[in-house]
Amino acid sequence: MKLPNRGALIAGVVLTVATAAGIAVGSTGMRHFDPALTGYAIGALMAAFAVGWRFAVWAQRPPSRMYFRRGIELFFRRACGPQHAEKRTAPAMAVPHGAGTLGYALARNFVAQDFIRRRGGYRWIMHLCLSGGCTLAFAITFPLVFGWIHFESFADNAEMYRVAAFGVNVDSFSVHSFKAFMMFNLLNISAILVLAGLAMAGWRRFTDPGERATQSFAEDIVPLLLILAVTATGLALTVSYKFLAGHGHGIWAVVHMVSVVALLLYIPFGKLFHMFQRTCSLCVSRYKKVGAAGPRAHCRRCGGDFASQMHVDDLKTVLDELGFNYRFAGAQGEVHYQDICPACRRGLLALNQGRSIGR
Ligand code: HEM
Repeated sequence: MKLPNRGALIAGVVLTVATAAGIAVGSTGMRHFDPALTGYAIGALMAAFAVGWRFAVWAQRPPSRMYFRRGIELFFRRACGPQHAEKRTAPAMAVPHGAGTLGYALARNFVAQDFIRRRGGYRWIMHLCLSGGCTLAFAITFPLVFGWIHFESFADNAEMYRVAAFGVNVDSFSVHSFKAFMMFNLLNISAILVLAGLAMAGWRRFTDPGERATQSFAEDIVPLLLILAVTATGLALTVSYKFLAGHGHGIWAVVHMVSVVALLLYIPFGKLFHMFQRTCSLCVSRYKKVGAAGPRAHCRRCGGDFASQMHVDDLKTVLDELGFNYRFAGAQGEVHYQDICPACRRGLLALNQGRSIGR
């Protein structure tokens, strides 16, 4: 029998225990935990386990492990000259500032979402609506579900509300103020943002010939349907209490909870897991910046500069770990396929094919 992945199980358990401890401590010993939201809390705990487990499995794979290892090493490395290089495990090079820092990579990847802006303005706006709306909704609902934040009216004035965070009073406002309007409608605003993103994503999936040829129902349509279910049932709650005197609120509350839990459990196993995988892109951008400033690899065939030496060396290590041997005998000793630039690899392919048919 195959043993379960121990590291991944530990990661899942640690994240679940940390979330449970966060709920217990943040809700001041469950005093501010709303029992009506228990279903959401259980869903969040199960999702925490699944995210921890899935992330560890992915981070253990040789390519992602290499990027994380190097990324962490390079982010924590102090900028210093090559004279100290022999003390470090990473290759010698001066470390660039500014564009190579963690803050810059976070701003570019997570706030500006540059990776998708480069693929087109339409996709950029679509993604900003979806990720911005979902992040806003998650940032509001998780602290409420976990009992970290709660609202209560004043004992002597039902028109005044008090906001407590982690058991400490942090704010108060009148129910007639603009602040109250925003507080009570932020989820509706996030739902409208998400709906705009969903409409743009749906339109693209129906009309873009490239997407239609390559998309699959499970990978590309299911996540949109799940987000739509959460958003539509959330808005149904608002419609119920604002326009239908609360009619049907009970049933929509249950359906919203079920759709939220389904979405949370889908996240680690489908396309939406990319929001956690993007952490690796922080390492990749640092890796590229440091690599660009360091020693370069020159093609063994044409002599051209085609990549950083660190990248080529790391690729060789990863290929060895994956069990691929790309070494072959050259005229001047052993050559690794990674020592040949991409243009020459394509050229060699054509030359070898020609040779095999006698040309
Ligand atoms: C795409 C993300 C989401 C959107 C767009 C969304 C939208 C909404 C909306 C519009 C409402 C009604 C707001 C109101 O009552 O004024 C709502 C209610 C609620 N949402 Fe969501 N939601 C999302 C995700 C979540 C998540 C992740 C959780 C839990 C962790 C959650 C928990 C709740 C709860 C507890 C309520 C109140 C339910 C009730 O009144 O019984 N939502 N949501």
